[in-house]
Amino acid sequence: MALKITVIGTGYLGATHAAAMAELGFEVLGLDVVTEKIAMLQRGEVPMYEPGLEELLRKHVAGIEGASGRLRFTTDPAEAADFGDVHFICVNTPQKHGEYACDMSYVDTALESLAKHLTKASLVVGKSTVPVGSADRLAARLAELAPAGDEVELAWNPEFLREGFAVQDTLHPDRIVVGVRSERAEKLLREVYATPIAEGSPFVVTDFPTAELVKTSANSFLATKISFINAMAEVCEAAGGDVVKLAEALGHDDRIGKKFLRAGIGFGGGCLPKDIRAFMARAGELGADQALTFLREIDSINMRRRGQMVEMTREALGGGSFLGKRVAVLGATFKPDSDDVRDSPALNVAGQIHLQGGQVTVYDPKGMVNARRLFPTLGYADTATDAVRGADVVLHLTEWREFRELDPAALASVATTPVILDGRNALDPQTWRAAGWTYRAMGRPAA
Ligand code: UGA
Repeated sequence: MALKITVIGTGYLGATHAAAMAELGFEVLGLDVVTEKIAMLQRGEVPMYEPGLEELLRKHVAGIEGASGRLRFTTDPAEAADFGDVHFICVNTPQKHGEYACDMSYVDTALESLAKHLTKASLVVGKSTVPVGSADRLAARLAELAPAGDEVELAWNPEFLREGFAVQDTLHPDRIVVGVRSERAEKLLREVYATPIAEGSPFVVTDFPTAELVKTSANSFLATKISFINAMAEVCEAAGGDVVKLAEALGHDDRIGKKFLRAGIGFGGGCLPKDIRAFMARAGELGADQALTFLREIDSINMRRRGQMVEMTREALGGGSFLGKRVAVLGATFKPDSDDVRDSPALNVAGQIHLQGGQVTVYDPKGMVNARRLFPTLGYADTATDAVRGADVVLHLTEWREFRELDPAALASVATTPVILDGRNALDPQTWRAAGWTYRAMGRPAA
């Protein structure tokens, strides 16, 4: 009989994982403590913007016309425990307030509330990003709480999905990593992922700590790559070089590769920043802090780019104070194709200029609701053109396709001064300059 799957936590990761599991043919039950979120999902609505996710959900949610009916939702952990052969824990692990360490309370609560109802054989699989050593601790807790005793076990299966590509990354993962303690656990996970394995996704079997570390070290490597090129941008700015050409040339070396070498205002979001900090904190607890002190520098380089963008803006306005200056900001989300504004470099820059007295007007294709909620005192416009109207300077801070497709000539006619600062090195300098704009970008010489 086909495995029955539960997904605990229906945020970014969980909602996508649940829909993907239904797409792979399993009966799926999603569990969350937030009733409103469950009500939305039951109607086939996704609580965030993620390309393709709503369509996938609507294809499977029970009760929606024409849907497979394989996907249902509940708020009752006892129902989930009774239903599932494999339980995926997909709750979030944010940074603790005032500390670098990660807050494990959602994972702990999710595991505990499920465990006490587990009266039959099942596999509990952690997907959340956790400090190394957590799986070991959670396995002990599971053994203590589950009435089914030995019949229940834990596995760790980190998730590598990117926002904006969540559906694609979940259905066609570039690798599947499983930390297991038994052949039974490995066999069950091979069954869950039979389709992507058959399509060629590598299946890597490890112990618990290695599985946990694959995730945090992958995100640390990506953060390092971005900060590396941003450090090169700083040197280019001092030496008159062009970081975009530099990255292009570096990327031709296969060993380096061209991805994640886009210089600009740096990384943000709900993952990279908090993950490198939690990793440093955990290494400290393990007495291996020296191994990761370089991540402190990666974090500093990254945060410095936001400040540099503010200074470039000040300079473009003639130096001195932002008081009375009108600044248009294109982009609020931490990256395109997402409505996520968590630790967004774009919103951070907008906020800094606003707090220094600038009149900031923000426009973002999908992030307006979240941006307004997080930063209600900024000005917001309904279109890019409205944001640019009357501006003394325009900042391009999130590289949405919509911004690359803007007509620079039309925009030049509504701006007070046609000056654009490209914080993502994503616009075409020639096109903008030809339309009368002064175009400047990070790590590149002025024309
Ligand atoms: C990241 C990882 O890429 C995923 O593999 C991982 O699963 C996920 O975190 C997670 O831990 O859940 P994500 O946060 O969606 O995914 O975003 P990325 O695509 O990694 O981008 C992160 C930030 O880096 C963005 O702000 C982006 O603008 C910035 N970035 C990216 C650059 O500044 N330059 C680049 O060259 C690439």
